[in-house]
Amino acid sequence: MCGIIGYTGFEQASPILLEGLSRLEYRGYDSAGLAVQLPARTAEPHPLQVVKTCGRLQALIDKTHRGADLLGSCGIGHTRWATHGIPSVENAHPHVSEDGSIAVVHNGIIENHFELRRELMSEGVPFKSQTDTEVVAHLLAKACREAPGADKTAIIGSALARLRGSYALGILFADEPNTLYAIRRDSPLIVGCVRREGQTISTILASDIPALLPLTKQVYYPEDDHIIKLTLQGISFYSYNPITRTVADITESYGAPVTLELSETAARLGKYRHFMRKEIDEAPKAVKDTVQSGLNDPSNMIFSDESLLSSLQSIRMIACGSAYHACLVGKAALETLCRIPVEVEIASEFRYREPVIPDPRHTLGVLVSQSGETADTIAALRLCKSLGMPTLGIVNMQGSTLAGEADHVFYTQAGPEIAVATTKAYCAQVAALYLLALRLGQAQNRLAEKEQAELLEQLSALPEKMERILETEPDLRRLARKLASTHHLFFIGRGMDHALAMEGSLKLKEVSYIHAEAYAAGELKHGTISLIEEGTPVITLATQPQLLHKTLSNMAEVKARGAYVICFSNAENALREGVLPLSDVADHVVSLPITHPCFSPLAAAVALQLLAYHVSVARSLDPDKPRNLAKSVTVE
Ligand code: G6P
Repeated sequence: MCGIIGYTGFEQASPILLEGLSRLEYRGYDSAGLAVQLPARTAEPHPLQVVKTCGRLQALIDKTHRGADLLGSCGIGHTRWATHGIPSVENAHPHVSEDGSIAVVHNGIIENHFELRRELMSEGVPFKSQTDTEVVAHLLAKACREAPGADKTAIIGSALARLRGSYALGILFADEPNTLYAIRRDSPLIVGCVRREGQTISTILASDIPALLPLTKQVYYPEDDHIIKLTLQGISFYSYNPITRTVADITESYGAPVTLELSETAARLGKYRHFMRKEIDEAPKAVKDTVQSGLNDPSNMIFSDESLLSSLQSIRMIACGSAYHACLVGKAALETLCRIPVEVEIASEFRYREPVIPDPRHTLGVLVSQSGETADTIAALRLCKSLGMPTLGIVNMQGSTLAGEADHVFYTQAGPEIAVATTKAYCAQVAALYLLALRLGQAQNRLAEKEQAELLEQLSALPEKMERILETEPDLRRLARKLASTHHLFFIGRGMDHALAMEGSLKLKEVSYIHAEAYAAGELKHGTISLIEEGTPVITLATQPQLLHKTLSNMAEVKARGAYVICFSNAENALREGVLPLSDVADHVVSLPITHPCFSPLAAAVALQLLAYHVSVARSLDPDKPRNLAKSVTVE
């Protein structure tokens, strides 16, 4: 949800800022902008050059001739996902103060912007945009007028003490050459320094790691409300006390920067046309690395906290989007393997519905999130903690808010995911939940040693089976071309396959804009079957042997009403032996590898992701940047 970037150094800033923005574009792509300090020529304060465009980042790249038009080596940039005000040049960031001497870029929502806007307008401040962000530029200008010559950290502290809501802000003052300021509250922000021969030569800020990777792997994760000053010499951190109105330098408390263990190529397209396709290819590795890290890292709560695990009475899983669907698969695995009650909740519902948790101390809150920055999931985590529940964050992004606040963290090992529609990170989340099920089954004596060992063996063999699905791509591409002109379709399945159907349907909707509905296969006949007509595609997921015959009946029901039935199934052997009349009720069968029924959805997910990708491509869409979406939803 909006990407921000800032750079100060010895090189021309705008090409660097544009490269950073291109790596953040998945956070929003309806407008973009840059503000850069002109190089010093006179003793006058540096004026700021601001360029903004509507639409994709490419428009800004073209307008500035790849940044060449903007001289100067210190600046900020932004790529927007509109919340307040339509996508337009006026509403694009950076927003500037009336005299043009202060520019800000923002990710988040200023909740009290109406009051602040009214107050500033009554003082004669003219507003140019409909955004909540513009108030920040004007508040900073007002603080500068009220305390001329004051240190900028104090200006920022006093002005921003008035904001309510969430924000990550990059701030540029015309009269402070080669200096950037930043601050965050409940929105992601990372800062890094580029060092050569032991000396810092430039410093950068960004919403997310991929934007920093080409320049540095040495980063800090600033805490909420700390004011960050970035100069050519390094990064300093300050705290502001609104009561005494004083600023304290707390740089020492941050210690040395964290070194990221990611390769720069992790966020590059390489030979691929789209990140989504690249990331589907990376799903088997994401699962393999996640399983390995669960098995090898003894500091993992999942593996180490025996007393917590053995005393748990129930589990509450909470997440949004695909992570919620991963939880539904996890619930089925946990209940099957551990016989422990699990409830799964949508974070935005959970947080406002005053949930009743009968025994909070023995109910594990499991918060699942790729980004670790999803606003509703973070709020749900805080609610779980306030209710006295122990919490586990299953998170992909190191240093994210969720990882910092959960009592225990298990990192999925998917690496940076750039495409807006999640693929490999979803697979890694499901794998992490399988591990939790195995570990809990052991801690609660629900799984015999032999069974546990067999399951682990099957889980470890899963990545190789996922690889095999990638080989079915030509068939899935053909199928995708057939589906590309359809207006609506259904995904049906029973048990775990229903959870999988929900994710398959979401993936297709996200990237193809075809209306799809996921239904429990047995439920369709209670109303929705009225929508089936001649040729309506019904994608049936049939990976659960114990439910196969029931699902077959449901396929027959829709087939009898003219549906074009596509079946994703691992009943290949049964089919070959003629035991199941799969071909009687399916027009198209996609064969999946056989694995333990609990693990089948993960293998099948890759096939559904590939299908969605190819439908998107067949419809000449951009699967990496679907309309209206953003990858990291940092507003509620
Ligand atoms: C957005 C993304 C989804 C993702 C959801 C939750 O809606 O487009 O792909 O599943 O947020 O994100 P999280 O980072 O919490 O997993």
